[in-house]
Amino acid sequence: MALPDILKSKLRIPVVGAPLFIVSHPALVLAQCTAGIVGSFPALNARPAEQLDEWLAEITEGLRNHDEKSPARPAAPFAVNQIVHRSNKRLEHDLTMCVKYKVPIVISSLGAVPEVNEAIHSYGGIVLHDIINNRHANSAIRKGADGLIAVAAGAGGHAGLLSPFALVQEIREWFDGPLLLSGAIATGRAILAAQAMGADLAYIGSPFISTTEARAGDDYKKMIVDSNSSDIVYSNYFTGIHGNYLKPSIAKAGMDPDHLPEADPSKMDFEAATTGAKAWKDIWGCGQGIAAVKEIAPASNLVARLEQEYHAAKTALCAA
Ligand SMILES: Cc1cc2nc3c(=O)[nH]c(=O)nc-3n(C[C@H](O)[C@H](O)[C@H](O)COP(=O)(O)O)c2cc1C
Repeated sequence: MALPDILKSKLRIPVVGAPLFIVSHPALVLAQCTAGIVGSFPALNARPAEQLDEWLAEITEGLRNHDEKSPARPAAPFAVNQIVHRSNKRLEHDLTMCVKYKVPIVISSLGAVPEVNEAIHSYGGIVLHDIINNRHANSAIRKGADGLIAVAAGAGGHAGLLSPFALVQEIREWFDGPLLLSGAIATGRAILAAQAMGADLAYIGSPFISTTEARAGDDYKKMIVDSNSSDIVYSNYFTGIHGNYLKPSIAKAGMDPDHLPEADPSKMDFEAATTGAKAWKDIWGCGQGIAAVKEIAPASNLVARLEQEYHAAKTALCAA
């Protein structure tokens, strides 16, 4: 199946900047889109809920201004992430806002629901649903999602445990629609590898935390620059769902990252977990790919590096 135009025509490289709780906001989204990749943010980052209207106006206006000034290099489209979970009491409001602004791409997480897909399809938007296994992928497509984001082992935030090879291979046996791959992708070579494996685009989160536009403290950004995969721990202790976190941030909060207790998944409450003192604010989510992040720099520099590496990797592979 051909990739929808929205996921290719205005992209300089096949990359979507993944939504990052607390960290992504309009400045980062605008920087990502104007640099030529899809920028995104979780709707829940706009607080109170009424702020979502302002953020969507700011992004829509900012992208329009960019396109007027640089018609030869138009901005890539943006995406809004909706957490489809019973604990998200804002879902209806936030979806109404997406419909009002005709948000081009919606990324749904945690639950696949036909009503969300229908609302976004009503104006021609597309829905990408993120999953950590083939069963959830199948259910998301049956419920009307247009594409899938395969969240493989090593991804930042809530992540699965499957090898990207296994996950992509199983999904590609039955699905030829848009497929994104995420988990520790932080170089141009890794973007190309994702495509070689069968994905259409790479979905990249953690490297954008250490960009100047990201809404993260300098100590968080610096910890990413200073860390590598051995500094990441996989635990369900903080939100009830397994995810990858920076060990030094856990140690800083007074806990032993190598001996964390198990949480009870039935107690998972996204809203409580995210407004509570610890999870995400003090305990910093991060994927395993961050050894490739060597500096705190504007998002456009990161995209330029990925672009240069991606083309160099393609040339080298074709010459081999
Ligand atoms: C700090 C942080 C916050 C995240 N918040 C969200 C979120 O609110 N919603 C969501 O769907 N995914 C969230 N994710 C997951 C990312 O969207 C993406 O799947 C992941 O970052 C990709 O792996 P990578 O970080 O190794 O590139 C988060 C990840 C991180 C690191």
